[in-house]
Amino acid sequence: MHELSLNIDEHVTSILIGRDLFRKLEKISDRKLVLLVDENVYKLHEPKFAGLNCLTVPSGEQQKKLAFVEHVMRQMINMEADRTAFLVGVGGGLVTDLTGFVASIFMRGIRFGFISTTLLGQVDASIGGKNGVNLDGYKNMVGVFRQPEFVWCDLDLLGSLDQRELASGFSEVIKYGAIRDRSLFDYLEGHHEAILARNPEALEKIVSASAAIKVEIVESDVTEQADRKLLNFGHTLGHAIEKLTGMVHGEAIAIGMVMAARLSYNMGFLDAAEAFRLEQMIATVGLPVKTDLSHDDLYETLLKDKKRSGDFIHFILLQSIGEAFVHKMDLHSLRTAIHDLY
Ligand SMILES: NC(=O)c1ccc[n+]([C@@H]2O[C@H](COP(=O)([O-])OP(=O)(O)OC[C@H]3O[C@@H](n4cnc5c(N)ncnc54)[C@H](O)[C@@H]3O)[C@@H](O)[C@H]2O)c1
Repeated sequence: MHELSLNIDEHVTSILIGRDLFRKLEKISDRKLVLLVDENVYKLHEPKFAGLNCLTVPSGEQQKKLAFVEHVMRQMINMEADRTAFLVGVGGGLVTDLTGFVASIFMRGIRFGFISTTLLGQVDASIGGKNGVNLDGYKNMVGVFRQPEFVWCDLDLLGSLDQRELASGFSEVIKYGAIRDRSLFDYLEGHHEAILARNPEALEKIVSASAAIKVEIVESDVTEQADRKLLNFGHTLGHAIEKLTGMVHGEAIAIGMVMAARLSYNMGFLDAAEAFRLEQMIATVGLPVKTDLSHDDLYETLLKDKKRSGDFIHFILLQSIGEAFVHKMDLHSLRTAIHDLY
């Protein structure tokens, strides 16, 4: 088992990465424990939930909305949950984003923690305190920053994850290697088969290394004024691709990373060999590397990105594998750059 902690102001989040972490729930028995559980996780692992107060969340991003938050809170009132209740989200990023938001506003805030069940959740969504829901097609438009008390990344639960979802999480792991950790990137090149076969040691290694990077970056910049922007590598174009195609998050990010690396090369920051290495890594794990979307559709969608600031966008580029930086680009240059990408 691997242990990390995220320290922000006076708050400490304990992050555990290992196997059979579910039994640790017994330790919260002094409070009214309510579990918000991904419906698929509930069905696939039902015996683990015996005797616990569970509310299930149907799968799908369309649940991530204010109406569903109200629905959950009504059910919590029916369960007689009060301000001493402890809410635990069990699922991927969808459930943990919802859980953190509900726990932050129910009775002006109750205690909460996460059992993260997807690779993407374990390496990314569950860490960092961003919680919220979508509004009118705008992703994560309504939400709060609030840190959970714990994040347990149960590697056994990854066993039931669909291969496409596993690859989606893998995309974020590649991102960490690309922006911050060349040795992690080397490891991924050498062990991608073991990871895709869900070898527990390989999973523990990549989840721990990725979570450690996320912790380090979030601690240095909680509200995304500086370094935390680096985590958006591949995401500016990736989010636009995700929105236009409905692709799984990590797949769209994979294409976004290939494009960002190509852009880094076109602008003279990155060697061709390094850009090619990233593209190869992404293709090797079966993630897509290109899109047939029109340049104009991509650009127009990108303009609606909530990270845009006026006529500029903070684009994350690579200097080498393991080293990223923020590049402020005006929208006109970005439009031209997109046309030169593919
Ligand atoms: N808060 C953040 O910092 C942050 C960062 C990245 C992404 N997110 C959010 O995370 C969400 C995406 O998260 P995700 O990729 O984990 O997707 P998800 O939570 O929607 O889960 C993906 C699918 O896997 C299923 N599933 C989950 N765990 C399973 C398991 N152990 N076995 C079998 N099936 C399982 C779910 O039912 C679902 O069908 C998006 O809403 C995104 O906005 C948040």
